[in-house]
Amino acid sequence: SVHDLENTFQRKIDEEVKIEPKDWMPEAYRKTNLRQISQHAHSEIVGMLPEGNWISRAPSLKRKAILLAKVQDEAGHGLYLYCAAETLGMSREQMIDDLHSGKAKYSSIFNYPTLTWADMGAIGWLVDGAAILNQVMLCRTSYGPYARAMVRICKEESFHQRQGFESLLVLSKGTPEQKAMCQDAINRWWWPSLMMFGPKDSESTNSDQSMKWKIKRKTNDELRQQFVDMCVEQVKLLGMTLPDPHLKWNEARGHYDFGEIDWNEFWNVVKGNGPCNKQRLDARRKAHEEGRWVREAAAAHAEKQKIKAAK
Ligand code: ACO
Repeated sequence: SVHDLENTFQRKIDEEVKIEPKDWMPEAYRKTNLRQISQHAHSEIVGMLPEGNWISRAPSLKRKAILLAKVQDEAGHGLYLYCAAETLGMSREQMIDDLHSGKAKYSSIFNYPTLTWADMGAIGWLVDGAAILNQVMLCRTSYGPYARAMVRICKEESFHQRQGFESLLVLSKGTPEQKAMCQDAINRWWWPSLMMFGPKDSESTNSDQSMKWKIKRKTNDELRQQFVDMCVEQVKLLGMTLPDPHLKWNEARGHYDFGEIDWNEFWNVVKGNGPCNKQRLDARRKAHEEGRWVREAAAAHAEKQKIKAAK
């Protein structure tokens, strides 16, 4: 019966056995993985845009080569993740249509503008830093294809985070203008980075079930706290500050307390009304339209090869 299937399924999860595409799984497990993995894939793809904006304006050949490699990595991450999501039974075309129609979500963080070169450093340090904390846990997520994709993605992501920090470190030792640019970028990216972890646990609709199924291994608030604790130490090495007057070591908790996130801003961005939401989706739709002839030519070529092989 379905009840027995569900028990066997949960026992596998409890015993740390990975769930594979052809295994029986509850419909809601399939759906929530599909939702999370496809949102994650979209985030990687849309996430190329804020940094793509600076490739042609990087201050040196070295910085340009690094940025180019990083943005290419993100394209690769998006592709592995779309493949992982496809194993759950939705076509890539459908996922992409859902992104372009505004039906599918992607991370709020990529709806903020990149105003100066220092934003490339701040994105690497803070945004990729936040992404890694979340993704290291996902290397042990219960769905096999997702977990395996994450292992490789995390290796590249850690390079992204280090290059961001190093780039800010250079600016932090530069001219007064460079220092000011560095601080300004940290000020603008700090709060949106904290929002990447999602709503508070008490508001997180998916967390309880996702924790039981070991899709998530740590809650939104646990990861956010870990991120705050880490950044408070790292920002000292930059000789910069984090824009939160409420940051304070709490001896009893063994963690830093921090100020309240502007949740109105968060939900506003998630609902599509952030500073760059429209620009990002327009750019993706345009790129997809402009790539149509490539997809058609590739499909026509594959068809010809198939006919040839059959002869
Ligand atoms: N931006 C946009 N939407 C968000 C964000 C965010 N930062 N955080 C949460 N949401 C959405 C959730 O997708 C969910 O919406 P849905 O139910 O309509 O799908 C809703 O807000 C409620 O949140 P939760 O119940 O907490 O959702 P969930 O359990 O999925 O947790 C989280 C959110 C932590 C982002 C999870 O989905 C996750 O770990 N995803 C994989 C990592 C990822 O996507 N990273 C992308 C940014 S990093 C990068 O791309 C480099």
